[in-house]
Amino acid sequence: MSARARLAVLISGSGSNLQALIDDSQHAEAPFEIALVISNRADAFGLERARRAGIPTQTLSHRGFETRAAYDAALAEVLRAQAPDLIALAGFMRILTPELVQSWQGRMLNIHPSLLPSYRGLHTHARVLEAGEPWHGATVHFVTAELDSGPAILQARVPVLADDDPDRLAARVLAQEHRIYPLAARWFAEGRLVLGSDGRAWLDDRPLDAPVIIDASA
Ligand code: GAR
Repeated sequence: MSARARLAVLISGSGSNLQALIDDSQHAEAPFEIALVISNRADAFGLERARRAGIPTQTLSHRGFETRAAYDAALAEVLRAQAPDLIALAGFMRILTPELVQSWQGRMLNIHPSLLPSYRGLHTHARVLEAGEPWHGATVHFVTAELDSGPAILQARVPVLADDDPDRLAARVLAQEHRIYPLAARWFAEGRLVLGSDGRAWLDDRPLDAPVIIDASA
């Protein structure tokens, strides 16, 4: 890609991952820019972060849509109009229909707060503590139709500490999310990262049999 890749970032809440992407995009040499932020909640603080950075925002509330398919059709319309190079789900707390995912396959990333394939779904931090895991973390992956199951690209591993509670652990994982999401977005924007026709993530012309792992110290 010669011009900067244009991202649409989808959020539902605080938008701290969005902020990490905004901050990274503001470096002169950044290979991507954020063209649009979409939220399904009007009160998402991430919208305020986008406005402060001068990024166009759109709220598309899921209320008022009778079906998931109807909501996703409206969302697809907004996305088609913007024609971003990449969609980054950043705490967008909705399950997408296979139709929507399919039409953006290979051009949609998600960040999930666990070391996938472990701990898909919600409440990952509490579940990790309950299970007595020594490690936790976050994963950036391509989005495919099955929830939290697309090919993993990049993971940050965080040691679980003896005195952790879900909030403390979540905060340390979140700090690592802020490192890995902009990095994966850069790889994609630079054309180094693609979803191969074999269903695997490819980085620098090599298939990733396992995600790239970054170890964070406690
Ligand atoms: C992040 O921890 C992200 O990984 C998680 O929501 C949080 C959003 O925080 N996403 C999911 O759980 C998706 N299944 P943020 O709004 O501050 O970026």
